[in-house]
Amino acid sequence: MSYGLLKGKKGIIFGALNDQSIAWKVAERCHEEGAEFILSNAPIAMRMGEIDELAKKTGSDVIPADATSVEDLEKLFAHAEEKFGKIDFILHSIGMSVNIRKGKAYTDLNYDFLEKGWDVSSVSFHKVMKAAWDKDIMNEWGSILALTYIAAQRTFPNYGDMADNKSYLESIARSFGYYWGERKVRVNTISQSPVMTKAGAGVKGISGFFNFADSMSPLGNADALDCANYCVSLFSDLTRKVTMQNLFHDGGFSNTGVSQKIVDKFEDL
Ligand code: NAI
Repeated sequence: MSYGLLKGKKGIIFGALNDQSIAWKVAERCHEEGAEFILSNAPIAMRMGEIDELAKKTGSDVIPADATSVEDLEKLFAHAEEKFGKIDFILHSIGMSVNIRKGKAYTDLNYDFLEKGWDVSSVSFHKVMKAAWDKDIMNEWGSILALTYIAAQRTFPNYGDMADNKSYLESIARSFGYYWGERKVRVNTISQSPVMTKAGAGVKGISGFFNFADSMSPLGNADALDCANYCVSLFSDLTRKVTMQNLFHDGGFSNTGVSQKIVDKFEDL
């Protein structure tokens, strides 16, 4: 169902890899709500070619950019300026830990891998916002969002250095969000329930995480479509004064001590 919430708005969406990606669902929903946008992803992710299908469906340009490369980002924002003039929203839906990919435990991190994962998952958000800032490309009352996970606040086994990357990402949203206030632009992170995606599947024991979170959350896990709907609301004019927040979108998981479903599982131990 479309409410026309993003009619006339322009944006950039980073991170749609395949139809499981949260960014993919966000792009579909933004399109339904009347937005126009550019899709961007790492050049290596383009090789799989699936993003072209999304581009066709949503009438979008696809511009490759490694989000750790200032040069790539400058080119991307130059293209956005040429196409749209100013823009209204940006979604950063990017994350990757080399340590997790290589199965390195938190107690045995490789620091080169750590730096790479930190650059991709956290610093890239600063780089994206700096490229937008330097171009002065955001319209007043624009909205910038990144996706994060509650491992930034609480420890979960096997989330490894991504926990630290997400803490850093959330901090960048607050710090840069302060300065964006001067330009009447808001910056927030959405702390999302687990979702079975390429990035999600990389975390060892993700099915256990997923089912535990679902059983712990009074409303159940929020799925990718729920997340996309929340992103739409945060890109819309209905949330203009929400900024510098880490917004939990998790069916109530973050404020639940324990649920009856979980207690029941331990009853007979
Ligand atoms: P995904 O694997 O579909 O998306 C991750 C994206 O990051 C991919 O499109 C990938 O190509 C892109 N990427 C990796 N390196 C890049 C680089 N150097 N430059 C540009 N793009 C690059 O997985 P998902 O789950 O949709 O992840 C999106 C965001 O949501 C991530 O920040 C993730 O941490 C976050 N998130 C995911 C949850 C889950 O359970 N799947 C839960 C909470 C947050």
